Amino acid sequence: MNKKSSTLQFHFNKLTINLHPEVYEPAEDTFQILETIKISPKKKLFELGTGCGIIALHCAYLGANVVCSDINPYAIELARKNFIANKHLLSGNVDIRYGDLFSVLHSKELFDVIIFNPPYLPTNNYDTVGKTGWFDIATDGGHIGLELTKRYIENVEKFLSPLGKAYVLISSLSKKDKINQIFSKCNLKYKIESQRNYDDEYLYVYCLKRKV
Ligand SMILES: C[S@@+](CC[C@H](N)C(=O)[O-])C[C@H]1O[C@@H](n2cnc3c(N)ncnc32)[C@H](O)[C@@H]1O
Repeated sequence: MNKKSSTLQFHFNKLTINLHPEVYEPAEDTFQILETIKISPKKKLFELGTGCGIIALHCAYLGANVVCSDINPYAIELARKNFIANKHLLSGNVDIRYGDLFSVLHSKELFDVIIFNPPYLPTNNYDTVGKTGWFDIATDGGHIGLELTKRYIENVEKFLSPLGKAYVLISSLSKKDKINQIFSKCNLKYKIESQRNYDDEYLYVYCLKRKV
């Protein structure tokens, strides 16, 4: 994978990705997901927390029909701008929706692939400025780092097609040992698809499927 950066714009493969100071800038976690996921043309895909839209656009470039969402209005505006900038390169559709996690979906929408790079840093009241900043919202995973991850794992099955796969990024900086407790309450099995070490942190991409 090829990323060339400048301050407000970079190229990822053939895509041109614009950035915005209020929106999460793609980092190691983003690129690990991009290198791990397996996407085939025509698959229905949902990406939560799309940020600048790079994962959603890459999947549409590969031919997936994508719904993506974010709770940050600046991210929605930026993802739309990036969609327009790259539309001529995409073989799949992209539908960009504003809102909290799965609330943007209709109850009967099912997906072959669902992806979430969640806010995963463990934080407390001293670390954040009262969750008012969009950067906090992109990174703040609550006191064990798994607040959004837990909500994702508990609800993702409802929107997964019978043979669908759900990906989620998990960091060693969150209380990873609590993950089994979260899985014990749902009907999903998981496999670690990739694991990388970045200085003092390990990042894992988990792939979840329904138990048969
Ligand atoms: C770590 S960033 C990932 C951004 C992008 N997908 C990437 O990989 O570069 C997490 C994203 O989740 C979004 N987010 C946080 N809470 C959310 C929520 N409750 N519902 C939807 N999106 C949320 C943030 O605004 C942010 O864009």
